[in-house]
Amino acid sequence: MDIDKIKKENKELNIKEIKENRLILKSRPTKFWFNLTGACNLQCAHCLSNVTGRKSTNEVDQIIYEKVIKDLLPYAENCLLGGTNYGEMLISKNISNFLEECKKNFVKVNLTTNGVTVKDDIIPKLVEVCNVIGFSMEGMEEEYEKIRHYKWENFISNVKRIISAKEKYGQKELRLEFRFAVHCENIKQLPKLIEFSKEIGINRIQVMLLRGDVKSQKFKTLYYHRSLANEYFEKAEEKAKELNFDISLPGKFSTGTFEKAKKYKPEINTKPCYNPWNTVSIDELGNVTPCCAHYEIVGNLKEQPFYDIWNSELFQNLRKTVNTDPDECCFYCKNRILF
Ligand SMILES: C[S@@+](CC[C@H](N)C(=O)[O-])C[C@H]1O[C@@H](n2cnc3c(N)ncnc32)[C@H](O)[C@@H]1O
Ligand code: SF4
Ligand code: SF4
Repeated sequence: MDIDKIKKENKELNIKEIKENRLILKSRPTKFWFNLTGACNLQCAHCLSNVTGRKSTNEVDQIIYEKVIKDLLPYAENCLLGGTNYGEMLISKNISNFLEECKKNFVKVNLTTNGVTVKDDIIPKLVEVCNVIGFSMEGMEEEYEKIRHYKWENFISNVKRIISAKEKYGQKELRLEFRFAVHCENIKQLPKLIEFSKEIGINRIQVMLLRGDVKSQKFKTLYYHRSLANEYFEKAEEKAKELNFDISLPGKFSTGTFEKAKKYKPEINTKPCYNPWNTVSIDELGNVTPCCAHYEIVGNLKEQPFYDIWNSELFQNLRKTVNTDPDECCFYCKNRILF
């Protein structure tokens, strides 16, 4: 099987089918989200799993796993591993084998991890197969520990082991990033975190806003601390520029005005989205959703062949409506993706 050829042909066909606005596709996803397990080794203070519990603590079922290997990997270019459930991928018993399969199929992995369980024997494979490793965190030292309930020093020691391996194996293309969820207390550490990241060899910081998923944290969210947020976003921009460091910040907050009120006009998102033509998201129970943002389950991989789900009525309907008459989820979505 010439995987390179299959992938190239799939990509070309996929672009053609998008341009032709096809509802039933012969091409398959070029990118997919996947969860190998629902279990986690932490219970962080901000995690919605505190409120809702975990959907499962299961390891992915063998039937689902094999279908992903057979029906998705030869065609896809990228796998976004973890981050769409309340599980931790590095504790899955399938992690080593899955990375090996990705390697065989030339699939690059973008991993989201809490960086707590990093076994020695997985590190060479991780730095070889991943093009991005994102370490979730919420600040440094005591700020980190009060959310993660895990020792900052141990976390950083694991991060440094991966940084060393990246250097040792000459994986220059691998991007190591902190995924920093900011709130009104830890945001003050942002300039210091940029300096620290640069110093230890982290390549980028992705700053995300803490959501008030846990009710008692609602007033810690930056939505209620807008001037403080804007002040530190500016400081972070300056520091990143000074150190030539890559950072992605959320947009600045509006702080309101006392000018005469204008007539309210709802903002309509007109940016097209092509995710329903080239992505799927699969969880450890086999549930398939169209992307990381859409909550509608379009099928289950344990019960149906992948191709039937991919071209199911629900999927076809999404392709028909996403750019013309979007459902509520797509209408308000900020993740609209072009190609
Ligand atoms: C649910 S976790 C799953 C992956 C893995 N266990 C981890 O922590 O990286 C996925 C991402 O959601 C983030 N997250 C969890 N609760 C959040 C909240 N209330 N606000 C913003 N991000 C949150 C985590 O920090 C993490 O980056
Ligand atoms: S490590 Fe991730 S999934 Fe686990 S509790 Fe923390 S945020 Fe939630
Ligand atoms: S608009 Fe958003 S929710 Fe809808 S398919 Fe695109 S990325 Fe997914």
